[in-house]
Amino acid sequence: MNAVLDFIHANRDRFLDELKQFLAIPSISALPAHQEDVKRCADWAAAEMTRIGLQNVTLFPTPGHPVIYGDWLHAAGAPTILFYGHYDVQPVDPLELWESPPFDATIRDGEIYARGAADDKGQVFMHFKALEAHLSQNGKLPVNMKIILEGEEEVGSANLDDFVRAHKADLAADVVVISDSTMFDRGVPSMCYGLRGLCYFQIDVKSASTDLHSGMYGGAIANPGQVLAQMLSQIKDKSSRIKVPGFYDDVQPLTDEERAEFAKLPFNEKKYRKDLGVAKLFGEPGYSTLERVWARPTFEVNGLLSGFTGEGAKTVLPAQAMAKVSMRLVPNQDPVKISDLFDAYVKRIAPKTVDVTVTRMQGGKPWMCDPHNDFVQAAARAIEQGFGRRPVLVREGGSIPVVSTFQEELGLPSVLFGVGLPDENAHAPNEKLDLGNLHNGIIASALLYEEIGALAGGSTA
Ligand code: BES
Ligand code: MN
Ligand code: MN
Repeated sequence: MNAVLDFIHANRDRFLDELKQFLAIPSISALPAHQEDVKRCADWAAAEMTRIGLQNVTLFPTPGHPVIYGDWLHAAGAPTILFYGHYDVQPVDPLELWESPPFDATIRDGEIYARGAADDKGQVFMHFKALEAHLSQNGKLPVNMKIILEGEEEVGSANLDDFVRAHKADLAADVVVISDSTMFDRGVPSMCYGLRGLCYFQIDVKSASTDLHSGMYGGAIANPGQVLAQMLSQIKDKSSRIKVPGFYDDVQPLTDEERAEFAKLPFNEKKYRKDLGVAKLFGEPGYSTLERVWARPTFEVNGLLSGFTGEGAKTVLPAQAMAKVSMRLVPNQDPVKISDLFDAYVKRIAPKTVDVTVTRMQGGKPWMCDPHNDFVQAAARAIEQGFGRRPVLVREGGSIPVVSTFQEELGLPSVLFGVGLPDENAHAPNEKLDLGNLHNGIIASALLYEEIGALAGGSTA
């Protein structure tokens, strides 16, 4: 193991140059104009996988962006890790708020700034380098490894479930490893045992066939902007409880043990509020902030559009209004069932004065595992060695749709070991990754393969 760790230390600078190349490719899955870039990024990652010694590296086309597969299956009798990550990134707008160009990775104050630095290219790269360290120094890995990287995570992983179902036998493994989440705080590494799910909608409200003079017609017909606002105000009550009938039916309550554990975490509510720049925190009564974000479902307005929003004033009665809204779900809420309930409720509260269309967009199931399983414990030991501190157990509020698919279709537990930080601006301008955490994360990943390799397994290779 010493040679592996020495290699990681000795090659720190080269690793950074390579990461910069990965981050330079604008693999924005949401924007059709970047389709070729997404493909170019898949090619880059596949070439890198081959270069570090992975085998059978293949790009599988999908109706969307390709899935990359690669493996190394020569640790007879040892367990098999299925590693998952994503090489696509979020759009960069508003571009003017970036202090350095999003696709020209720049190092400032020990952080590398670029779109995808934390979510998720930097964390995928961390595993590439841990694998490279083992393969170059020992000529082998302590575990069998299968890797899949997708190019559509940021747009809802619409084609990945089909891919997993179509390749069930090829993806057989003992455990899934994912680094696509955050640590609890700077200096506080964590292991995540729960994620929220998601259902996302667009609501369109239409009235007249064209925008109208608000003096000539105002008072005679319903205003779509106003109607949409009234409808949105009927989705949550003032205390932020969701009013969709049946919405809470399948919510798994927090256990007393979880509540006690969350309460022990080093969470500073005042600092949290100040860092976010809000006057006061707000959420469901009876729950702490961490409980609200990790273990309670929410409804959020993601965007609103209607009428005149330019400079000055324009007396207009808009012909339409649009909202993008979403709900974060917790175990055991089902996105299809919740979508049906939501759809029916929105249609019920829609007045007859307008035409309302509800369009379903992305979705994903929530996920939770037993944090006491052997793999999570093995990962905890690796993280402790890599970061010098035993990880705390957390749930997280974000969603990674495929994690529940791995559980349901392949019967696999997942180890979620993220090295991003909550303030690293994922999905926002000036996304970054802490270089110390990247380095420690490469070490912890290399140790993680050792720890898992030492467990009983080997049913699949
Ligand atoms: N890496 C995130 C998910 C995440 C963030 C997990 C923070 C844990 C902590 C992922 O790339 C992401 O952004 N997911 C989307 C999923 C959606 C598009 C279906 C999300 O959570 O909004
Ligand atoms: Mn991600
Ligand atoms: Mn993301």
